[in-house]
Amino acid sequence: MEMALDETKRGRLTKDGIRIYEPEDFAGMHTAGALASRILDEIAPSIVPGQTTAEIDRMITRMVEDAGAKSATIGYKGYQHASCISVNHVVCHGIPGPKLLKDGDILNVDVTVIVDGWFGDTSRMYVAGSLSRKAERLIQVTHDALIAGIAAVKPGNTFGDIGHAIQKYVESNRMSVVRDFCGHGLGRVFHAPPNVLHYGRAGTGAVLEEGMFFTIEPMVNLGRPETKVLADDWTAVTRDKSLSAQFEHSVGVTAEGCDIFTLSEAGKFHPTWG
Ligand code: MF3
Ligand code: CO
Ligand code: CO
Repeated sequence: MEMALDETKRGRLTKDGIRIYEPEDFAGMHTAGALASRILDEIAPSIVPGQTTAEIDRMITRMVEDAGAKSATIGYKGYQHASCISVNHVVCHGIPGPKLLKDGDILNVDVTVIVDGWFGDTSRMYVAGSLSRKAERLIQVTHDALIAGIAAVKPGNTFGDIGHAIQKYVESNRMSVVRDFCGHGLGRVFHAPPNVLHYGRAGTGAVLEEGMFFTIEPMVNLGRPETKVLADDWTAVTRDKSLSAQFEHSVGVTAEGCDIFTLSEAGKFHPTWG
């Protein structure tokens, strides 16, 4: 009798419990990541004042279905939407709803899809209408902090190196890194070890190895880092009501550095004003 192969348990685990995937697994992650990213490309023209976040989420739901994929978030711990949409002082896990976007709102849209069992998780910032200087700075710094974190991804570096690069960049711009939420391993599952902290000390934490798949998704506040979760049990907001931004990529460690699974083929990951 053969044991049924548990498809979620590919490759091997490190002593820190981090899964090491095989070279052939990168292709599945690229396909899933590309779909999540293309969805974020395609909603961009719809993010305008007067639009509701519920309608944006409906578009996303339809695109996931049309691609023959599955939403990872619908049904996840009771969550009922294909995206999280976090407006202004919402840090993450904003629930799509009937409220109208207004001129100057900034928002993060976070989409996770499952294609052939592989998870692609990415989020980016948008603006409805006109952008204030301070919001533009926040978005730019958050984007560049993610890129600084990704630049630290290579075998032999540690997860602390990633967090440190992000924190140093953000704080040198007099903004703060959210501590209450972190990135995560993913692959054949949505959330797996390790917790990918967006702050920390260089040289600490687990050592990166080729074949690790995880997200980096820093949340950055203009004010203080503290957050609280609203009574709906999902929506996380800044305690001081300051503006918050986030960008997220799913990446895989390669021999040389890393592959970004959720790149925008159309070059739209970063908003085009910059
Ligand atoms: N996509 C989010 C992440 O980056 C998780 C959202 S879970 C949900 O990890 F249930 F809120 F959708
Ligand atoms: Co994520
Ligand atoms: Co996400």
